[in-house]
Amino acid sequence: MKTNKIKKCLFPAAGYGTRFLPTTKAIPKEMLPILTKPLLQYGVEEAIEAGMDTMAIVTGRGKRSIEDHFDISYELEHQIKGTSKEHYLTEIRSVIEKCTFSYTRQVEMKGLGHAILTGQTLIGDDPFAVVLADDLCDNEGKSVLTQMTEIYAKYPDCCIVAIEEVPQEDTNKYGIIAGELLEHNLYKVYDMVEKPDPKDASSNLAIIGRYILIPEIFKVLETTPAGKGGEIQITDALLTLAKQGKVLAYKFEGKRFDCGSVDGFVEATNYFYKKA
Ligand code: G1P
Repeated sequence: MKTNKIKKCLFPAAGYGTRFLPTTKAIPKEMLPILTKPLLQYGVEEAIEAGMDTMAIVTGRGKRSIEDHFDISYELEHQIKGTSKEHYLTEIRSVIEKCTFSYTRQVEMKGLGHAILTGQTLIGDDPFAVVLADDLCDNEGKSVLTQMTEIYAKYPDCCIVAIEEVPQEDTNKYGIIAGELLEHNLYKVYDMVEKPDPKDASSNLAIIGRYILIPEIFKVLETTPAGKGGEIQITDALLTLAKQGKVLAYKFEGKRFDCGSVDGFVEATNYFYKKA
């Protein structure tokens, strides 16, 4: 049955995590912990909070520990059951109970757009969310994904990207949008460029790693040529849909940490430590 409710969430998790070498030689960057919880689990919990129950993860070589994490470890359960340490497993048990996980491998690293297209086999013909786990978000109220699904319910023919203002000198780290204000904090996008030079950027509104995508995106991705860095960019595919008036950008409420950088990772660690 067709539904406008977003139940599926895609997690591209095939990247090398070069900025965290040598740790990421044998440990997926998505498994790096902020305090005691891996980045990817924060993302999955955000998706669950937003009403999703089907997690689709695009992995690559050397990422098997992700599958083990979201599964029962019988040996550990046996060792810990009935002891004072059992509570350490509460959160992950609850995650495993609430949703299903499926996996596919991206065989070649051809960019975020290509990773998302690789996930088509897990998503099918439904609208879906995308979470880039190294953008860690936190909000006292509704999570960023919840805020976005509420907007999607109102605009079910559109893709939605989350944005925030960044310093002008940082535009070359993000997809940058240009749009007209539609309502409070919501823009109709008419242009978007992947990582423009600060001097060429049309705004400082940067896309962060939260997307709601309509299934039409897969068709567009199939014909999107390699762009910035020789990679297939989701930003370029979205531009095709933006030209048809089908992309909105939402300035979300909440905090976001760039845990793909050492500075952002340390900042997030301190923030969650103080909060705990
Ligand atoms: C990706 C996207 C970029 C977006 C960013 C958010 O870039 O290509 O448009 O702004 O995520 O984190 P990456 O950080 O993977 O280079």
